[in-house]
Parts: sequence; C-alpha cells; structure tokens
Amino acid sequence: MTEIVFATNNQNKIREIEILLPPVFHIKKLIDIGCNEELPETHHTIEENSAEKATYVFEKYRVNCFSEDSGLEVEALDGEPGVDSAHYAGDRDANRNMDKLLENMQGKENRNAQFKTVITLILNGVQHQFTGILKGKIGTEKRGLYGFGYDPVFVLPDGRTLAELMLDEKSRISHRGIATKKLITFLTDLT
Ligand code: IMP
Repeated sequence: MTEIVFATNNQNKIREIEILLPPVFHIKKLIDIGCNEELPETHHTIEENSAEKATYVFEKYRVNCFSEDSGLEVEALDGEPGVDSAHYAGDRDANRNMDKLLENMQGKENRNAQFKTVITLILNGVQHQFTGILKGKIGTEKRGLYGFGYDPVFVLPDGRTLAELMLDEKSRISHRGIATKKLITFLTDLT
C-alpha cells in the first residue's frame, strides 16, 4: 500500500480522486499529517503555485504528495484572471468575479478562454506535473444553474455553458477531470 497525501482539506476533491485510484494507493489529507496551515501560493502562474504547494508539503513533512491549482485564462485579458481567479473581484464571491469579468470583456471581439488545472505530484522526491485544459469562450451573460465559480459564463463549443452541465458530464470533460485522469494513469502504470 502506497500512501499519498493530497495537499488539500477539500473532502469533495479527495473523494473524486479516491474512487478512481487503484486500491494500492491510499489518499491522506493534510489534516491527517497534522498540517492545519494555509499552503503558500505566492507565484504568478498556475504551474508554479501548484508546484509550490506540493513542494512545501514534501519539504516539511517528507511524504509522497500531490497538489492541484486551477484557474481561468482569458486571451483578450492577457491570461487574466489566471492565478487570481478565486478572488478576482477582491473576495471569493463568484457572482462578483463574473460581473467583473463580463465588464472587462465588454466590447472585446476575441472571447476565447480556457480553464486550466495543474496537478503536481512529488513521488519519492521526484516531481511530475499533469495538466488539464478545457477550451471555450466567455459569454455575454450568466446562464445555467449547476457548477461553481465561472461556470455560468464559460461557453463550450456546443453553445452550452459549463453551468448547464450536470456534475458527472462536467467531470468527464473538465480541465480538472483531464488532469486527474493523467495522474491516475501515471500512478496505475506504476503498479
Ligand atoms: P481552485 O484551484 O480549484 O481553488 O480554483 C481557483 C478558482 O478558479 C476557483 O475559485 C474558481 O473561481 C476558478 N475555477 C477553477 N475551476 C473552475 C471550474 O471548474 N469552474 C468554474 N470556475 C473554476
């Protein structure tokens, strides 16, 4: 049995990954290793922040671990909100974040955007990253009732917003789902 710490205390994210992993892997959360602190996220890219969280846990606790960091990148805004996705409008309020985004997108012809998740795994001291990308466009209004964050303004190639997809469909196609599948394939190939 290989124990891996998922550098999060978000039980939903842990459950999502746990059910997909082969049984030889056992996921622990931060609290299980006595880590109750906020992990540092001091960089300007999703890749670096993801690596920073895993590196912090590895260096302090010397355990196999992985972390994830996600965000929305909008072409016409030079990649914004990016690492600031969660608190774009100042706090963690999704509605205010979307309002600010829609305002900043007013009059922009190029509405291309992508969600990105980067998972950083540190296994036996070696770092591996797995990226998941979901491409779409920023709509002109909020639509849909499901999901979270920017889902109501993120329009898929088929015209639906992410907030119009039920959870299981979203997880199949999402940036987070794609990165998670790559992590699981990597870990499964090791067994
Ligand atoms: P986190 O890394 O999962 O905390 O995501 C950072 C921020 O990116 C979230 O607070 C959301 O604002 C945004 N975000 C990440 N993934 C999604 C998604 O699947 N849908 C909508 N917003 C997302």
